[in-house]
Amino acid sequence: MEDQVRSLKNSFRADLKAVKDTKDIEQLKVKYLGRKGPVQDLMVSLRNVTPEERPRIGKVINALKDEIAHLCEQAALSFAQVEETKRLEKEKIDVTLPGKKGYLGRQHPIRIMLNEVIDTFIGMGFSVQYGPEIDSDWYNFEGLNYPSDHPARDMQDTFYVSEHFLLRSQTSNVQLRAMEGHNPPIRIIAPGTVFRNENISARSHVFFHQVEGMYIDEGVSFGDLFTTMEEFWSKLFKKSIEARFRPSYFPFVEPGMEVDLKCTACEGKGCRLCKQSGWLAVCGAGLIHPEVLKNGGIDPHKYSGYAWGLGIERLAMLRYGISDIRMFTENDMRLLAQF
Ligand code: PHE
Repeated sequence: MEDQVRSLKNSFRADLKAVKDTKDIEQLKVKYLGRKGPVQDLMVSLRNVTPEERPRIGKVINALKDEIAHLCEQAALSFAQVEETKRLEKEKIDVTLPGKKGYLGRQHPIRIMLNEVIDTFIGMGFSVQYGPEIDSDWYNFEGLNYPSDHPARDMQDTFYVSEHFLLRSQTSNVQLRAMEGHNPPIRIIAPGTVFRNENISARSHVFFHQVEGMYIDEGVSFGDLFTTMEEFWSKLFKKSIEARFRPSYFPFVEPGMEVDLKCTACEGKGCRLCKQSGWLAVCGAGLIHPEVLKNGGIDPHKYSGYAWGLGIERLAMLRYGISDIRMFTENDMRLLAQF
């Protein structure tokens, strides 16, 4: 049996030399000292040793067991140290490297445009009123002189959320709200998001922004509308800009018109942005229809007013030379970082 102990010791030493990491050591320990390992076998075969010999041989086997355990532990320790040093080496941080550059938050071009438009009108004596994006049919259509079967409802394909409620298709939904319970003079703008169920293309999107404007007082005329508009363009673009007024139809104004601005990208020569026409429609406007004034509780015999609805995306496209409305919603940093 002592021979067996000796040869076991030798084979353990040989195995120990081949060990490469803490995992190998764990395996080695199990191989020799495990319940099915050779040391345990020796313990079991102690039974066959004479009672006189048993204590001495028992001691020898125990010494072997201790030695293996001790050597394994030592090896494990030194490997652990080496592994730790390697890990630290790998995780070393070079504090002299330049830091990663963070992006500074910026305003979206639509927000910038909206703010400029709002500020300009505040400077011209208008106050700001906000309306809901989900609204009743009354404020968006019916009360604005669109009877339920009126074909003009088809001019704006509307998202309905229920039978009588919808996503507003125009900021004109603020007109009646601004009239209700107020006596003229009323001079407000209403900025906000509007929604239309349209095919998304370079020129139209399912949501965009408008700034409604409305002025009601005694004797308000088309002349007031023209001069206000012209002053607004020149203030906003900081130069005089050519505008063109075309007759148009909206049920809540009479007469109605659309305002085109000369394309700033091509100076009116015709380009992709203006569909080669040299002009870009940016605004619907007109004198408020007497029926609408009545619906808002205002006497149309005493008062008159004008209203407009400005398309903010269109203005921003002109201002920044952006030829595709989809660019505003793509969140491409190459565009956004320029503002
Ligand atoms: N609400 C109209 C539109 O979105 C624009 C408009 C506003 C026209 C006010 C006339 C008066 O097309």
